Amino acid sequence: MLRDKKILLGLTGSISAYKALLLVRLLVKEGAEVRVVMTPSAVNFVNPLSFSVLSKNKVTIDFTDNEHQWNNHVDLALWADFFVIAPLSLHTLSKMSSGICDNMLLACYFSSRCPVIIAPAMDVDMYLHPVTQRNLRSLQEDGCILIAPESGELASGLSGEGRLAEPETILEILKRHSSQSLTFDGKKVLITAGPTYEQIDPVRFIGNFSSGKMGFALAESLADRGAQVHLVSGPVHLQIQNAKIKRYDVVTADQMHAKCMELSKDADVIIMSAAVSDFKPQNPAAEKIKKEQQEMMHIDLEANVDILSEMGKNKKPGQLLVGFALETQNEVENAMRKIKNKNLDFIVLNSLRDAGAGFQSDTNKVSIIDANGMITNFELKSKKEVAHDISNMIDTFLHPKSLV
Ligand code: CTP
Repeated sequence: MLRDKKILLGLTGSISAYKALLLVRLLVKEGAEVRVVMTPSAVNFVNPLSFSVLSKNKVTIDFTDNEHQWNNHVDLALWADFFVIAPLSLHTLSKMSSGICDNMLLACYFSSRCPVIIAPAMDVDMYLHPVTQRNLRSLQEDGCILIAPESGELASGLSGEGRLAEPETILEILKRHSSQSLTFDGKKVLITAGPTYEQIDPVRFIGNFSSGKMGFALAESLADRGAQVHLVSGPVHLQIQNAKIKRYDVVTADQMHAKCMELSKDADVIIMSAAVSDFKPQNPAAEKIKKEQQEMMHIDLEANVDILSEMGKNKKPGQLLVGFALETQNEVENAMRKIKNKNLDFIVLNSLRDAGAGFQSDTNKVSIIDANGMITNFELKSKKEVAHDISNMIDTFLHPKSLV
């Protein structure tokens, strides 16, 4: 249930932080990817190195690693499928409920879009204090999932409520929420991927270098979250894995257009990531063109239909339309124009200027721009991770007020 899930674990200053080591072990055993963010005072109780070794990832504590290396709290927060804060101290709890953002963990909290699970740990009187209870209620109203502390002997020598829930309990609750986090359950998604080939003669075509990897990764990511995906793909060498993806293979832009018109009618989300050929030969030759027939060769081209524009013209109320743009200059300006002209909700912009981004590569570096001009820049990541970021963005559009 937690396989490949991305868990951001937040540690605050509490003696019970040692229990979080076992939690990391359990999560890694389940196949989850764990990253740890600690408040500076948590470091007084447990050694970050232990968490780094167990999670096999860097532990983040400060906004910068040294004077020049910034730690990006937004990236870390948006990376996570779940943010688990265990143990949550009274101090951090109060800051979370009142909007104080003076460390990396809090910056991640205020930047997160995923479900946040909080497991408080403190002495019994601190826990039962009306201010604490009020703040806990307020965080729950904000969408946090509370794992109540257990009752028993406390580090102070007192007995009562306040002991951090056992790692096994936290794991079980996380699993339960993970199985419920199929946020695209019941949603129909149409995705295009790969290149199109436009026939010159029976053996030649005009095409491009698109591998289809980005569109396929998106299809898997959305299907993993419960969506029923229709994937219309140009010629690629890729396989699908999730049974919730129905694949339709096409070759030309006209075939892709026809399939999209058919499938778009009841789609909740439409994502056009295919590199559709803008032009096609006007009169494809019926027989193979022989070179001795002529010294100069001209192929008259005519424009292909712009499938994304057609989807924009026929957009139904509530339907979400996402385009891709590959630009080499004036990226943002061109992307904004496409959003407006093609009636898009947002566009995923790749710049060919960035090394490791674009066609064929396994990585990509994108910016997402919405119709209001809001830009979210992402770092260079695997296409699988980029798909995860784009899915998160779609989730935000479909469930604007929900934290889940
Ligand atoms: N697209 C499409 N049908 C086409 C051409 C493009 O559906 N015939 C879609 C792509 O899938 C992508 C978006 O349009 O989502 C942007 O494609 P791009 O080639 O970057 O932009 P164009 O609008 O074709 O403009 P230009 O080539 O001038 O940049």
